[in-house]
Amino acid sequence: MDPEEFQRLLDIDVEDVASIPSDNESYASDFDANGEELDENFQHNNDLKPIPSILITFHVYLCAKGLHHSSVKMKTLKILVFVLNSISLLSKVYGSDPAIEEEEARARAFLKILNEKTWTRNNKGTIAAWNYASNITDYNLKEQIRVSAEIAKEVKEDWKELTKFNYNTFIDYDLRRQFKKYSILGKAALPDDKYVKLEKIVSDMESAYATAKICSYHNKTDCSLSLEPEITKILTSSRDPEELKHVWVEWRKKTKTVKPLFIDYVKYSNEAARLNNFTSNTEYWLYDYESPTFVDEIEKLWRQLKPLYLQLHAYVRHKLRQRYGEVVSEKGPIPAHLLGNMWAQTWGHVADFTLPYPKVKGPNYSNLLAKQEYTPIKMFQEAERFFVSLNLTEMPPLFWKNSILEKPKDGRDLVCHASAWDFYDQKDFRIKQCTDVTFEDFITAHHEMGHIQYYLQYKSQPVAYREGANDGFHEAVGDVMALSVATSKHLKKIGLIDSEPANKDQNDINELYQMGLDKIAFLPFAYLMDLWRWQVFDGKITPEEYNCKWWDYRYNIQGIEPPVDRSELDFDPASKYHIVADVPYLRYFISYVIQFQFHRAACEIAGEYDPNDLTKPLHKCDIYQNTKAGNAIGKMLQMGSSRPWREAMEALTGQQNMDASGLLEYFRPLYKWLETENQKNNVYIGWKICEKKCTKVPLQ
Ligand SMILES: *[C@@H]1O[C@H](CO)[C@@H](O)[C@H](O)[C@H]1NC(C)=O
Ligand SMILES: *[C@@H]1O[C@H](CO)[C@@H](O)[C@H](O)[C@H]1NC(C)=O
Ligand SMILES: *[C@@H]1O[C@H](CO)[C@@H](O)[C@H](O)[C@H]1NC(C)=O
Ligand SMILES: [Zn+2]
Repeated sequence: MDPEEFQRLLDIDVEDVASIPSDNESYASDFDANGEELDENFQHNNDLKPIPSILITFHVYLCAKGLHHSSVKMKTLKILVFVLNSISLLSKVYGSDPAIEEEEARARAFLKILNEKTWTRNNKGTIAAWNYASNITDYNLKEQIRVSAEIAKEVKEDWKELTKFNYNTFIDYDLRRQFKKYSILGKAALPDDKYVKLEKIVSDMESAYATAKICSYHNKTDCSLSLEPEITKILTSSRDPEELKHVWVEWRKKTKTVKPLFIDYVKYSNEAARLNNFTSNTEYWLYDYESPTFVDEIEKLWRQLKPLYLQLHAYVRHKLRQRYGEVVSEKGPIPAHLLGNMWAQTWGHVADFTLPYPKVKGPNYSNLLAKQEYTPIKMFQEAERFFVSLNLTEMPPLFWKNSILEKPKDGRDLVCHASAWDFYDQKDFRIKQCTDVTFEDFITAHHEMGHIQYYLQYKSQPVAYREGANDGFHEAVGDVMALSVATSKHLKKIGLIDSEPANKDQNDINELYQMGLDKIAFLPFAYLMDLWRWQVFDGKITPEEYNCKWWDYRYNIQGIEPPVDRSELDFDPASKYHIVADVPYLRYFISYVIQFQFHRAACEIAGEYDPNDLTKPLHKCDIYQNTKAGNAIGKMLQMGSSRPWREAMEALTGQQNMDASGLLEYFRPLYKWLETENQKNNVYIGWKICEKKCTKVPLQ
């Protein structure tokens, strides 16, 4: 089927689904982004499910327009309805066919055993993965690869059995949905040797990234600088553009070496996707969103957000120019090395010299944490207290026993990137985070614990449903908590500060600005990470143009430029963990949008936000100790992925669509301030003319 026609069919379906009354909601799951499955639904009209929706469409049509039609046309339609009704009746008879009931009974028995096997396997695989990620040795790598190859083999055996069932015809929604989830095999669809190869490629890329070290700018013989903590520290605190440029360039010299591996990774990932009946890995990555228009929905969100980003971008460039002079051009993109972050993805670390009201500088929360003798453990205990105050669940004993909450001092290499782990036995959940006592890491602790909270909330679901409603939901949970935690109202409640800051309005703008440097600046970056990879997987960006296309996106969407010219001998995407580690990134974009939607809904439930009450703006809401808000959040989390994400979203927010208006509402005072300030300073909005070049071979 050609893509356009396919798209058209999908569009029609979505409309049909929308007209189904809620007691028939289950049909929505039939309409997946996967073309192959959809084809089947169209061919097997013995699947009675789509028919009621056609009927409804006709009924609506008759009621609304019937009177204006000639009697002849009415007759035709009536006959049609009659025919459809008969089919529907026939189908119902067919539906109670003992043959189907018998198959469903067999399927239920099969599923019961499969669920048991699956959690046991996931447990084993997760342990091996943890052992490697928390202790990078050749032995642990070999073990991880051995275990996951073994698991892949078993999973494939079961999958062969599973696909013998005619699960698309199952009447039982849950049975059908779980079978569908299991029917996507992922990488394990590859032949054994290729599967092992792909695993090895990704872990080699990860290991190259995790162990990369660069030399110091000030002491050329000291070549022991790791990304965390040394390099990150330089980027967040140095204000010497030459030193910043040095670490920016050197890091990319070390990480670009994985390019040949990455090319193979793309090849094998696509091959695996095709064995799952997807056209490419892109389609596979988008499959779980269960929406054929998802990419458009995301683009629409970005368009909604862009005006806010442009104001922030213009203001920050103006401030950087005051600080660094001609290194920053007046109307061009912002040099990427000056934004306090290796990838210019969050800009919070330039706040100290770009703050809207520098004289009303609020308290330094990091210093206060240190002064009050917070430790990593204490930070996580405080985070737990927040969840528990909402009537959500406390961390189980094994969490405290097995987590790694501080960088181990025994000299081992490990993946320091913070992560949260579900071991699938309903008891063992862990966080691995090389926590420093800073406010940033305090917020990250909430983020990671949000993942654990989600795991805990859905741990009683069948194993196939133990995932977020979509992966963006998973990233959003902890951040929703952090939005409350970061308010000065809350920090006073927990005793970190004695009183709310003076100069309220100006302090407010400062705090919103600080938040915006992280949350608004991040949006275009999070968007382009996968825009680039989708094109790569789809073969629209070839290895010969990987880097320059990367910079096209960086320029066009983010409005940044590299500190020095680039060429195709560089491979800058590899400087980012999620690219070498095979982790999709769209989830973070989704999360940053929907967390404000969730925040707004929870705050409304808590009575802490009222759009008509100026004393209760969204950015000052703290849902601490509000069990009503907590229960509403819990209700959404407990669903796991048992229903399409729109229904989970509806459970908390009453809305079925993603919507950026929550974020825009939260930042509204900042937006107004930036707009006025930029006008006052006559600052150019947007960017043009990139001084830096990206070429096939390096420019001399
Ligand atoms: C790291 O892994 C090695 C096996 O390669 C093991 O001998 C060692 O005990 C592990 N270290 C820690 C701290 O777990
Ligand atoms: C430079 O680094 C080397 C290697 O770490 C160290 O031995 C030396 O003392 C350092 N020099 C200075 C001036 O810090
Ligand atoms: C939800 O999003 C879809 C796809 O973008 C759109 O067609 C639909 O009109 C939206 N629904 C609402 C209630 O906004
Ligand atoms: Zn996360």
